[in-house]
Amino acid sequence: MSSKYDKIIDYAVRKGFFWQSYEIYGGQAGFYDLGPLGVLLKNNIMELWREFFVKQHQEFVVEIETPMIAPAIVFKASGHEENFTDYAVECLQCHRIFRADHLIEERLGVSVEGLGVEQLEKLIKENDIKCPVCGGALGSVYRFLLLFQTYIGPYSPTNLAYLRPEAAQGMFINFKRVYDLVKRRLPFGIAQIGKVARNEISPRQGLIRLREFTIMEIEFFYDESNPNCDVLYENCSDEHINILRAEDRVKGVDKFTSILTTEAVDERIILSPWLAYWMCIAKKFVKALGVPDDKMYFEEKLPTERAHYSKQTFDQMVIIEKWGKLEVSGHAYRHTYDLERHMEFSKADLYAIRQLKDPKVVRKSIVRYDKNAIINLFGSKAPQVFKILASLSSDVLAKIVAESQGDSIVIEGISMPKAVFRVEDVEEKIWVERIIPHVAEPSFGAERLLYITLEYAYSEDGGRAVLRFPKRVAPIKVGVASLVNRDPLEGIAYRIYKELKKHYYAMYLEGDSIGKKYAQADELGIPYVITIDYETPKKADVTIRDRDTKRQIRVPIADVIKVIDSGLKGIDIFSLGYPVIEYAESKE
Ligand code: ATP
Ligand code: GLY
Repeated sequence: MSSKYDKIIDYAVRKGFFWQSYEIYGGQAGFYDLGPLGVLLKNNIMELWREFFVKQHQEFVVEIETPMIAPAIVFKASGHEENFTDYAVECLQCHRIFRADHLIEERLGVSVEGLGVEQLEKLIKENDIKCPVCGGALGSVYRFLLLFQTYIGPYSPTNLAYLRPEAAQGMFINFKRVYDLVKRRLPFGIAQIGKVARNEISPRQGLIRLREFTIMEIEFFYDESNPNCDVLYENCSDEHINILRAEDRVKGVDKFTSILTTEAVDERIILSPWLAYWMCIAKKFVKALGVPDDKMYFEEKLPTERAHYSKQTFDQMVIIEKWGKLEVSGHAYRHTYDLERHMEFSKADLYAIRQLKDPKVVRKSIVRYDKNAIINLFGSKAPQVFKILASLSSDVLAKIVAESQGDSIVIEGISMPKAVFRVEDVEEKIWVERIIPHVAEPSFGAERLLYITLEYAYSEDGGRAVLRFPKRVAPIKVGVASLVNRDPLEGIAYRIYKELKKHYYAMYLEGDSIGKKYAQADELGIPYVITIDYETPKKADVTIRDRDTKRQIRVPIADVIKVIDSGLKGIDIFSLGYPVIEYAESKE
């Protein structure tokens, strides 16, 4: 008996959802092509993500698109050039290179996330772990940079660039522009869907671990002292999420517990209210893909497991058959890390403005200088001296004057008598202050969601695959079948199909018998099939068959689109008042 995973992969390749890239050249690990049905399914998943994360929050979440290739400075600033590494180990005999931590985990059945080079090497030695392919001895463990490198234009090697491993940096870099576009109001989010590339060491898990995949991300910016997260209470006050906390994982607990999202914030289990809010939306979104509540949870990462930019991370896990669990999204509290780093490296001002309710009184020193005295002293050079003085801020000038010894001060090589300057302490009322917004980030991998959507839709009925896709994501929405392959029924069926194509991805079902046509529709997860039978020419009506119950209703041709629209929106078509028919379907 092959596992469910093997069955799904076999099904997906056969039906044209996906297959390994560059097949005719022997294939290349970590790259997958999507076929016709895979593209439709992925597009529907991305559209559903847009709906949950962007469209429903459009007053404060906007979507942008930025390039895949970035000059190296971007990933120097982001810390990826230094930190975005995994551990590799080479077989000394066959020279294959493996991901050291995964190799150990597979052999020992324990998690080694967060361990360093020495600890991993020790585990390999102590447990006598050998090359899984040729049995040869393994060499030293080393850190391997997962960023793909390239050059921009003909200026190699000076114009080093990287392919982005996450979409996030495009959003941080554009923070100020979008902040201006949203009228300088916090909180707000920038969303992006796009391809990313990670030079994974030895990807062997098909669609699950790719070297190029699509990420769906939001960088959400807010004022930490006033998060203004009312939607958490509006949309999630009665929503539970399953959490497995880091402190419990350390104690060996591997069962998650359910908690109200708002409670998780109030009890500081989730440190950022916006992180919690997007986790709640993430739960609802993954549920809409067909994963029940009790088959998913958020696993808090240990400090040693977190990415360099994160103060707290929860990975959203979905229970799957083959590996037990699969991370489908990461939720990181990136706080001020990225904006601070980009300010440091670019010198750009990426501050936001906080309006104060009550003005703040600040004491500051200002420096006045005797302009006539300077003109008298410097003559024709006086304008140059004024220019230098004007280029210094009041604070800096006050500091220079205060700290200089003796009767004169020297600024940019020009000596001036101290007596020309007078330092005054003044009080100033301030109505705004500059802040660096905090950031909460939900980040989803589209291909992993595609896989889990398939796994949760896949079932078998009498040895045949039936894909129970949620209607919203089903690649093909409606099939059209003629009861017999003859006119006038076929002609009517084809005319209906032509009409449906204007509205949906539809399929004209072919086969020797109606049973085979239904089986074909079920196998592709088509929610509804319209059948043209002997009654149709007489009464101008058809049957609509529901994939999951196999029950049918009889509907006038003129109402077909209205009924399918209702059904796809989630309305039960059997509640619409049309006659219900129950045919016993023969299995052929
Ligand atoms: P992993 O621990 O599995 O390597 P990660 O923690 O590095 O993943 P993130 O950086 O949080 O992943 O990326 C966000 C999301 O992108 C993940 O939750 C996952 O859905 C997806 N993802 C990450 N790496 C890959 C990959 N190599 N192939 C396909 N999807 C991926
Ligand atoms: N968000 C993925 C990473 O940069 O670690």
